[in-house]
Amino acid sequence: MNKNTSKIKKELDTLGYGIVDYPESLKNTVFKLMENFQSFSGQSLEHKQNLSYQNSMGYENRDKTINPESVDHKESFYIKAGYEMHGAFLPSKIDKAFVASCKNLLDEAFELIINTTDTFSEIAGVDMGQYFDRSALTLRAIHYYPDSNTEIAHHHVDRGGQTYHLFETTDGLEAYWQGKWNKIIFNQNQLIYFPCIQAQYASKCVLKGLCHRVVSNNDSIQHGRYSLVLFVDYNKLPYKYSMNKKGPIEKALMPGQNYAMPFSELENYFEEKKQLFRKGVSALIMNDKNEFLLVNLETFKTHFFAIPGGGLDGNESTEDAVYREIQEELGIARQSLELVGVCKESLKLLFKKKKLQRNGVGYDGSERYFFGFKFTGSDSEIKLQEDEIRSYKWVSYENLKGYLLFDDQLKDTQEKILELFPFVNENI
Ligand SMILES: [Fe+2]
Repeated sequence: MNKNTSKIKKELDTLGYGIVDYPESLKNTVFKLMENFQSFSGQSLEHKQNLSYQNSMGYENRDKTINPESVDHKESFYIKAGYEMHGAFLPSKIDKAFVASCKNLLDEAFELIINTTDTFSEIAGVDMGQYFDRSALTLRAIHYYPDSNTEIAHHHVDRGGQTYHLFETTDGLEAYWQGKWNKIIFNQNQLIYFPCIQAQYASKCVLKGLCHRVVSNNDSIQHGRYSLVLFVDYNKLPYKYSMNKKGPIEKALMPGQNYAMPFSELENYFEEKKQLFRKGVSALIMNDKNEFLLVNLETFKTHFFAIPGGGLDGNESTEDAVYREIQEELGIARQSLELVGVCKESLKLLFKKKKLQRNGVGYDGSERYFFGFKFTGSDSEIKLQEDEIRSYKWVSYENLKGYLLFDDQLKDTQEKILELFPFVNENI
């Protein structure tokens, strides 16, 4: 265990959470974001509600003075990487600056998240990085309205994998640890993070989902408080906290109740995620120069490329589908293709949000079967599908990195290529 890991392990053991000094550039981004959030929050409620919450993103107002039944007294803005403002309204300069700085933060914080995840993995002896990708990040900007309640956020364990508290305008955050409530102490040059219930599950109870709450102080009673929190959902973990079995987590778990829990008991709080993957095919087509055929779809920006392929029609076999897709997208006939092989395992990719197909089925992701071909025809045969494919390109293995720019696309594609065309690597 290296020095940094031992330091973090010690923090997790003694405090329940870890503390990091801000990397300078991230700190600037967080401070800028806080400034922009406060400006955003200062706009009229009517304006803010143009950006109202949908698909797990946007503005949400829970104001006791408007809705006396609300337990919370705060407004929040939730945002993920792919967020777009939509609807028939004109975003203000303030909205645009705020959303832009949220996106900057989501971009910049990823490296830090990878680092702490590596540490968690080392402590737990489990690769925690396998349980999420970039789309798992949600940033939540919270403005607690002035409130005289002692507990302004009721005690709870977060349902995700990891939580990062990036900024708090005043203290009040508390952790339940070693049998009592302790103030969470960090200065403005630091941020704190802790494991949540999914990390406890994934680590077989080596890591503990931290129970925490927010209490008021004189400052927050008078002026309220602002907070920036980043959540990492273990979106690839095939299990999730079960609302069906246990109800809301803040009611299901008393402070500290999960800390000493054996894994066999924690399992009762979880259920298997039922995910639906749309089956599809991907075609790795190589020419006589050992280059691979990539396509730029009309729906992509012009510098983003992908491997040709698509979803299965009805009960069609994967083999029928792959020849059909190549014919439709590229005009290449079966006679001009020599099958090299089929990858042993399919690749499952999660969509950023559930996609509804024409038949009304909501899919969580796609499951791709990879086929390898040698192209034996000539480029003059290639006829691109109108309105679907903008252009195509032959690209060598070592140059793929300039074209496969989506999240894990490069790594996933390289893996599949090496399985079917292992010699490409030796030529580098
Ligand atoms: Fe929380």
